[in-house]
Amino acid sequence: MNVSVKAPVPDVLAAEAGQRFRDGMALLAGAVTIVTTDGENGRHGFTATAVCSVSDTPPTLLVCINRTTSAHPHVLDHGVLAVNVLGGAQQTLSSAFGSRSKTMDERFEGARWRRGVTGAPLLEEALATFECRVERVVEAGTHTVVFAQVLDVHLAGEQTDGLVWFARRYAVVPTSC
Ligand SMILES: Cc1cc2nc3c(=O)[nH]c(=O)nc-3n(C[C@H](O)[C@H](O)[C@H](O)COP(=O)(O)O)c2cc1C
Repeated sequence: MNVSVKAPVPDVLAAEAGQRFRDGMALLAGAVTIVTTDGENGRHGFTATAVCSVSDTPPTLLVCINRTTSAHPHVLDHGVLAVNVLGGAQQTLSSAFGSRSKTMDERFEGARWRRGVTGAPLLEEALATFECRVERVVEAGTHTVVFAQVLDVHLAGEQTDGLVWFARRYAVVPTSC
């Protein structure tokens, strides 16, 4: 559904090429995840912070994927993905999956993983892993918003630090302050 905007929207942000938008969004801390998929096009994964809970009935989350990200067509083709929530000790893994200079083999070599019910790789060290089936996609600017139904959830069980991306750098969030 498209919502028609009645109030005039100033074009000032466009004139700044979105820099102020990006500067503001850099202050919106986000949990660091690695989104993975597997299927006929092989194993793929990338670091993502644009992940959000949508509904718990049915359990649904969304992931915003830049169309230039190499995993983008494969997530849509395979129709399955896993969201792996990283802990504070996994910055190196996040950097590997967020780097264009690493091949998929190099990214997965640095991880311990197993296949889940959908075939998507589940990272052993993840704090939580969501196994999902793609339900719906919405194109929005440079990104595709992927709505995914959660088929299973795995929890690490032990309390450990979280990893967030804030002000363009990593920060470790302790379980208790
Ligand atoms: C902390 C961090 C968060 C990121 N969040 C996202 C995201 O939410 N969506 C996205 O499409 N790309 C995101 N990226 C970028 C992808 O991880 C990156 O473009 C991708 O790994 C590039 O490699 P590839 O296209 O060669 O696979 C993020 C990168 C980092 C380092």
